[in-house]
This record gives sequence, C-alpha cells and structure tokens, in this order.
Amino acid sequence: VTPHVDADDFGVYVHIPFCAQRCDYCAFATWDDRPHLIEHYLDALLCEARRAAAVGMPPVTSVFIGGGTPSAVDPHRLAAVIGALPIAVGAEITAEANPDDVTPALLEGWGAAGVTRVSLGVQSLDPVVLRGLGRTHDPDNVAIAVQAVRSAGIVSVNLDLIYGSPHETDVSWCRSIEGVVALRPDHVSAYALTVEPGTPLSRDPARHPDADEQADRYLLADRSLSTAGLEWYEVSNWSRAGHESRHNLLYWSGGDYLGLGCAAHSHRSPRRWWNLRTPERYIEAVEAGRPTEAAGETLGPEAARIESLQLALRTRRGVPTDALRPEDVELLPGGLVEAFDRRWVLTPEGRLMANEVALRLR
Ligand SMILES: C[S@@+](CC[C@H](N)C(=O)[O-])C[C@H]1O[C@@H](n2cnc3c(N)ncnc32)[C@H](O)[C@@H]1O
Ligand code: SF4
Repeated sequence: VTPHVDADDFGVYVHIPFCAQRCDYCAFATWDDRPHLIEHYLDALLCEARRAAAVGMPPVTSVFIGGGTPSAVDPHRLAAVIGALPIAVGAEITAEANPDDVTPALLEGWGAAGVTRVSLGVQSLDPVVLRGLGRTHDPDNVAIAVQAVRSAGIVSVNLDLIYGSPHETDVSWCRSIEGVVALRPDHVSAYALTVEPGTPLSRDPARHPDADEQADRYLLADRSLSTAGLEWYEVSNWSRAGHESRHNLLYWSGGDYLGLGCAAHSHRSPRRWWNLRTPERYIEAVEAGRPTEAAGETLGPEAARIESLQLALRTRRGVPTDALRPEDVELLPGGLVEAFDRRWVLTPEGRLMANEVALRLR
C-alpha cells in the first residue's frame, strides 16, 4: 500500500536553534554559544504560536519539532507551544533528540505534550566514526534511549543515520546497520554525508566522502533494511508499514505547513516563505509585534507542477508514466526506473541518480 496524505492535512514545524556543541558537517540554523537565549526564545515561540492560532489555522495533523536540538530544552515549554495549536485527533507529533539527552523526565514531558514519535540522531554506532563526525554520544546510549522511548509508550521511533563519514568503512557501516536493525526501529532515515559550504568539513578535503563508496553503502543499507521489514518510501527513508512520517509525506506531496521559530519555512500554496534566520532577530521581531518573515516567493503554476513531480519521483509513489518521454527513458542508463501501475518508480540504483532522472521530467 502506498502511503498517502489527505488533502486537508496541515503541518506545523517548530525550530529549536540550540545545540550543546556544533557538529562540523552541519549547516543548519543552530548555535552552540547562545544558551542564554533559550528562555526568551521559548517565550517568543509560544507568542508566535498563539498569534498564528488566533488568526485561524486548520486542524494540525502533524507537528515536527526539529533543530538544532529539541531535547536540549525544557519539554514543558514545548508542551505549552503544542498546547497553543489546534491539534487534530490522531495527529503525529515528532520531536528530535540526541541520544544522550533521552531521560525518563524528558520523555514524560514529551508524552504529556502529546509526542507520538521520537527521532534519534544516531548517525553511526561506531565510536571512531562518531568522534570523526564530532558527535559526543556514546553508541551504547542509543539502545538505552530506544528502550526508554518504548517504555514511555511513545508509538514510533526513528533512527537517523549518516553514511560516507570520515573513518567509516564498509564493515563499520554494515555493523551500524545491523545494530540499528537489532533495535527494531519503526523508521530509519539514512542520509549521505553532504559537504555543506562554510562548514569546517568543507575546508578539509581529506575527510570528504567518496561518491562511489556512498553509493555502495546506500545499496547495502537498502538491502539490509528491506530484509528487516523496513521498506523504502522516499530516497532516504524506510519504514515499517504504517509508520511512514505523515509530516514528511506532507512536504513531499506539496502540502501546506506553517513554520514557527527562526529560520523555519512555511508553505501555503502557491506561496512559501521563511523566517528571520537568527534567534536574536526572531525574538526581537516577535517582541515588537513585527512579522517574523524574512522573505518569500510564489511559484508559477508550471514551476510548481515540475517541483511536485520532482518530489513525487523521490517517493515510492513515483510519477505518472507520461511525466517522462519514452525516448528519455530509453536514453537513461538501464534499470533506473520501473513501471508500476502506470507510474514510473525509481529502482534502488535509480534512487542514487534521482536528480539526473528528475532533469528529464516534463
Ligand atoms: C539537523 S539534525 C537535528 C537533530 C539532532 N540535532 C541531531 O543531530 O541528531 C537532523 C539530521 O540531519 C542530518 N544531517 C545534518 N547535517 C548533515 C550533513 N551535512 N549531511 C548529511 N546529513 C546531515 C543528521 O542525520 C541529523 O540527524
Ligand atoms: S547535526 Fe544536530 S547536533 Fe549536530 S550541530 Fe547539527 S543540529 Fe546540532
């Protein structure tokens, strides 16, 4: 069964721009030197949530609290933000956590806030690889964290992984995948390590990933995860049936969502916009009652149509067969797409070349 979103699904993204320590590959809007702003920032978030709800908001079918590190802030303050929103019955509420932060007190707070899904930043289970990424958690804490999330009765667990890290070998990647599978997660996201401009990693070519190695590791992950009953449903995402992320499906289907917090993105068809990037400017704007938006754009119907095909191509739903000319399919290296139910769906090899295939969409 292909997972889907309902036409009236509406998501809210909440951004927490604080980390205990910045990882040197990360380009997200997050800061490790501003813990003194956390309380003010949470006040501003609550205020923005209340204002947005007061002007009218559809029932919220999914919330994603991301970062940065949501597990680094008081769960009761996040509960207040969620409490200010018109949450629909049965909504999916995800919060991201660093494994070392997962304590019974944190989970109790999140449980009370209605969190239904916890996403743990595992990245690797190899201590050497973790250190090379600048991650501070002890891999043994991942199993403890998963167990704690289960004991707290939270229904869905996602584990985030990165492949192609410095010091990673095929053997250590294999072990990480096997270790992750043994934890019986409901969902796994595995991302190719990306060299983001401006990061310390970008200035150190010796640690840059090799594309061929990353391709092999992707295929290895896909085989092991699917054998374990975690089926791919987007290029970087695998899940047990029924545990696909409703919030991410909303993004990939071009649905509407509101972003709260600095640097958060919003989309209300046909317009999208994003908030001021730094927590200081965001707090200032909220306190002064000014808009938090930094800029926005409206896609024309043709650009919107192509974008929606590009997003759909990356998912298990694929695109209608007429989105690719037969002669273009002929020109593609063999075996990148296969036809299912009058739609083109990427094969595992095709998922590695999703961007090249996407260039031919019409
Ligand atoms: C931005 S983090 C937020 C959650 C939490 N702070 C953490 O790191 O686990 C979400 C995920 O983005 C991924 N990520 C961040 N930077 C990346 C990069 N340069 N390449 C690949 N994945 C990256 C990691 O897998 C991480 O778990
Ligand atoms: S990867 Fe996660 S923990 Fe590391 S700096 Fe980025 S947001 Fe923070």
